[in-house]
Amino acid sequence: MGITRRLFLAQGGMATIALGMNQGMSHAAPPKFRTQLQASSLAQFVDPLPLPEIIKPVGERPSPENPTVQLPYYRVEMRQFENKLHRDLKPTRLWGYASISPGPTFETRSGQGMLVEWVNQLPEKHFLPVDHSIHGAEGDKPEVRAVVHLHGAKAPPDSDGYPENWFVPGKSAIYHYPNRQEAAMLWYHDHTLGINRLNVFAGLFGVFFVRDEFEDSLNLPQGKYEVPLVLCDRILDLDAQLNYPVDPDLKSPWVPEVFGDAILVNGKIFPYLEVEPRKYRFRVLNGANGRFFHLTLSEEKPRSVAVQGTAAQKPGGLGFQQIGSDQGLLQAPVPSQLISLAPAERADLVVDFSNYAGGNVLLQNENRSVMQFRVAQSATRDTSVLPPTLRPVARIPETAAVKTRTLSLVEIDDPIQRPVRMLLNNTHWSMPVTENPVLDSVEIWNFVNTTEDIHPIHLHLVKFQILDRRPFSVPTYWLKNGEIKYIGAAVAPEAGEAGWKDTVRVYPATVTRIIVRFEGYTGRFVWHCHMLEHEDNEMMRPFDVLPK
Ligand code: C2O
Ligand code: CU
Repeated sequence: MGITRRLFLAQGGMATIALGMNQGMSHAAPPKFRTQLQASSLAQFVDPLPLPEIIKPVGERPSPENPTVQLPYYRVEMRQFENKLHRDLKPTRLWGYASISPGPTFETRSGQGMLVEWVNQLPEKHFLPVDHSIHGAEGDKPEVRAVVHLHGAKAPPDSDGYPENWFVPGKSAIYHYPNRQEAAMLWYHDHTLGINRLNVFAGLFGVFFVRDEFEDSLNLPQGKYEVPLVLCDRILDLDAQLNYPVDPDLKSPWVPEVFGDAILVNGKIFPYLEVEPRKYRFRVLNGANGRFFHLTLSEEKPRSVAVQGTAAQKPGGLGFQQIGSDQGLLQAPVPSQLISLAPAERADLVVDFSNYAGGNVLLQNENRSVMQFRVAQSATRDTSVLPPTLRPVARIPETAAVKTRTLSLVEIDDPIQRPVRMLLNNTHWSMPVTENPVLDSVEIWNFVNTTEDIHPIHLHLVKFQILDRRPFSVPTYWLKNGEIKYIGAAVAPEAGEAGWKDTVRVYPATVTRIIVRFEGYTGRFVWHCHMLEHEDNEMMRPFDVLPK
């Protein structure tokens, strides 16, 4: 890891900031692929958007907190199965919860606890390239292991899916989710140490809604007018099989990032959804391993009128009203033409199709179509509303913080400047716990990003607020032993991320500050980068919530 690359990275980092959320990652040797299917050659909008089924409990069982209370009991088997990702493709081998991907959707109310038995019925062999040089995936470990994390949940530590609490095929774990939190879109996914990126890429993720009375009282679009959109990208081979890239050094096949050209929405490539000319609520999740999405809406030009320069937008044209983010509703809707989501971030959006009766609307990512909305000629009466104010978000005052932690994000390179791993605070997963907040205390965490990448940093258990982001000099940091020299003003979070968050984009060459109250449970949790290739290769650390 030579200083040259670091200095170079510092400048690269600044360029990335200037471009906003540029993907901006150009690592040395290109990974080796099996021949890749060109997803752009597929016919567009021939498959209807799938909607994962709502899962039903299979019974009731006593609450671990109070045996006189019965809780709904769910059972979910992880299985290998095949599914067509597109009309014109052969079936793709996948792993999914309840044999679908995305898995079944959970619907629950705030305060309504539940038990879920997660059952590993996967095959004994992994079908994606396990890297046995990665910590936790050494040759003495079973190849197929699974553990489930409910992302965004305030759950007890033994139900949080600690990465080392994996279980092998034939085994299961019963988790307790008390759901004592506000309405939000959570999601569940695999979290197994050392192979998380592969298990999620194989299809192990799904959506989990918490509802509450406050949200009900707003009269937002609901029922069939509220639609989850789970986005991810995949690389396929010519047989339509998942084509997870590997490093040419086959002894350590890990690659630092994976970006696919096939964009899946709820498991289909280029799906369409028939909508009415009225308001809809879309619950969007970025479930990708590493891709950031930059989403826009536009009217699809009728082919006969597709002459250059005639794409005039109608007055009051297409856009999003963002009403929520990771951990629930914003204070007020935020009108936006562009929604950017890092891996694991969610956006709660209202879109009004009423000006587009009889037309088509495209959802695009960086000007490439992702899906199509076919707007019908007429709508049933739309009684839903977009309220001018949503849920108050009380700012946590900085004076409430009892501790400030400065935590670095570091990339370790090999002699030819290819990344070999990513670290948080220069510590490995297996080193002693260094972050140990006291229950109910407030802390400020400063993430010092010395790398050229944007890292979406996620903390389990808690919701937090973003304070600000401020550029600093990376060369000074390296040359002067970690000194932080600020080279610009602190920038407040964007309006769409000014509510409650559980994942924050930490930009290159910035210090990103969050403020957190460590509520809920004592015990061991984790914080990590949500680029799954980073997370699997040491960019994850345990933290302990200590009793008061
Ligand atoms: Cu979405 Cu630790 O995870
Ligand atoms: Cu990262």
